[in-house]
Amino acid sequence: MIRPILTYPDPELKKKSAPVTVINEKVRELARDMAETMYAAPGVGLAAPQIGAHQRIIVIDVAGQDEPPALITAINPVIIHADGDAYEEEGCLSVPKYAANVRRHARVVVKGLNLDGEEVTWRADNLLAIAFQHEIDHLDGILFIDHISQLKRDIFRRKYRRNQEQESTD
Ligand code: NI
Repeated sequence: MIRPILTYPDPELKKKSAPVTVINEKVRELARDMAETMYAAPGVGLAAPQIGAHQRIIVIDVAGQDEPPALITAINPVIIHADGDAYEEEGCLSVPKYAANVRRHARVVVKGLNLDGEEVTWRADNLLAIAFQHEIDHLDGILFIDHISQLKRDIFRRKYRRNQEQESTD
């Protein structure tokens, strides 16, 4: 089921998500809904709090348009190693129509569980590494705009408010 995606400045996006303690049918259904919602958007990643579920679950698929889908579902993901520097443009389904360059690590190693409760280690670089960092941030109530400079954030807030006002009067 496609679920509505919460958007900035919804306070639900600022809350920290709790670890998943049992991987049951409810968790699997939530993960399926997250993937469906991400693909429909379309987006390359989604974290559970973006649909109002404060559990540590993320889904990512960075496959290109002519590549087969490569869905990653990570439960309780933790970055256990990170190195290198990246500075790429990011967007977010919860911050529509805005993009900014964000400083990240270029490579990460992430540990977590899959939907069968098995421990998995993901070694990621490029876009996948950035997606992991972006989505895990969501689990801690952090948005990519929290990483940009104060000046850029002020400009963002002004533009964003103006956009929303325009939309509500359309
Ligand atoms: Ni996001």
